[in-house]
Amino acid sequence: MDLPPGPSAPAIWQTIAWMTRPGAFLRGVHARFGDPATIRTYWTEEPMVLFSSPDSVRAVFRLDPAIAPAGQSWEFLRPFAGAHSILLLDGEEHLRERRVMAGPFHGERMRAFAPMVAGLARAELATWRGRVLALERMRELTLQIILRVVFGARDDELAALRRAIDDTLATVRSLPSLLAMAVVRRDLGPRSPWGRFRMAVERFDGVLFELLARRRAHPGADDSMLAVLLEQRDEYGNPPSDRHLRDELVALLVGGHDESAASLAWAFERLARYPEIQARLREGDPAYLDAVVKESLRIRPVLTIAPRLLLEPVQIAGHWIPAGIQVAACIWLACRREDLWPSANHFRPERWLGEQPAPNPMSWIPFGGGVRRCAGAPFAEMEMREVLRAAAGLALRPARAEAERARRSMLVLVPHRGAKMLVG
Ligand code: HEM
Repeated sequence: MDLPPGPSAPAIWQTIAWMTRPGAFLRGVHARFGDPATIRTYWTEEPMVLFSSPDSVRAVFRLDPAIAPAGQSWEFLRPFAGAHSILLLDGEEHLRERRVMAGPFHGERMRAFAPMVAGLARAELATWRGRVLALERMRELTLQIILRVVFGARDDELAALRRAIDDTLATVRSLPSLLAMAVVRRDLGPRSPWGRFRMAVERFDGVLFELLARRRAHPGADDSMLAVLLEQRDEYGNPPSDRHLRDELVALLVGGHDESAASLAWAFERLARYPEIQARLREGDPAYLDAVVKESLRIRPVLTIAPRLLLEPVQIAGHWIPAGIQVAACIWLACRREDLWPSANHFRPERWLGEQPAPNPMSWIPFGGGVRRCAGAPFAEMEMREVLRAAAGLALRPARAEAERARRSMLVLVPHRGAKMLVG
């Protein structure tokens, strides 16, 4: 079985392009090889076949998890995410975790978080004057939000948690560390990237276990997601172990923090270049606000792929792909292909306001799809709406006229200058 065509450059070069110029790399692969195309990077041990047309994306999302698990694609996160992490599980175990985690993200429960998110967003945006790096500010804000909502962190606990998380994430966000870890995943002592990472994880766990002990001693003291998770009981009536809870919290943190921060940074990067869209946002129409959120997630999706590892050969949109290969719905291409989106490179919220033809749902996939679709998507969209609503009163201008390009920071694509803007 031949794999679909793809670049013949050595994996190390493809890895560098994938990390440093992800947009240009994916655009180039699509222009040269079409859909599907096969890439080889150190991101995964196996070659990866990228699919981006609506039919093939739907087929990838419908693959039976028993033959196309997603958990193994996140294997490199195991040392931080932990063995019980929803990110790494598949099959029944995965669905059980999803049921536990999905509850707090939906309906009334989720809406109840909105005023708190709006309050934190207003406090942050009130400080914006002059030169602002939106990415940095949004990392701070979304971390604060997630610590309050997920961990139920109180004022006196915030600083220690923040420091521990920053230390851990800092060891994997930088490009040289990430490259070094992708190539040599071995502990070569406390000064090696892997060694530093392991030590940061241990410190982080220490802080988290202390927090868990405090919450177990005073259950039901808040309405955080941790409070909901603490109420779980297994079939024998036993509460979850500290390890299990720790892994659930880290999944929400890893799943939620960087993605939301990067998505908001891109929304600001785009908005700063469109005073007319800022003016319309100021009018306060909720449908327009929602359209701005949808359009910025489309034009700058922060996760580029939703990967699955094939355990058996499968046919996807007429192509047989052998076992042992990664297949991925290519989020970035699906959201950006010129043939799928009229004027794909233009930031046009209007396309979400009743235009014909309506956008194809299998092309708007910033949150992935199928049984692995982002568990926090409703929360993430609410968070973006609240932050952009709070920012509507500001006049934003880009620090430099040319658009910022994408670079990889850990798992997500971020604006390479950090969404540098002038405010006021
Ligand atoms: C704009 C922000 C966000 C984006 C773009 C995003 C995107 C994604 C994507 C693409 C996936 C993988 C889907 C797949 O493989 O098909 C995912 C999974 C996940 N996300 Fe998000 N996410 C965001 C925010 C959040 C937030 C705020 C949370 C939680 C607080 C969260 C929690 C998760 C979890 C737990 C998973 C794993 C789901 C599973 O494996 O079943 N995400 N996210």
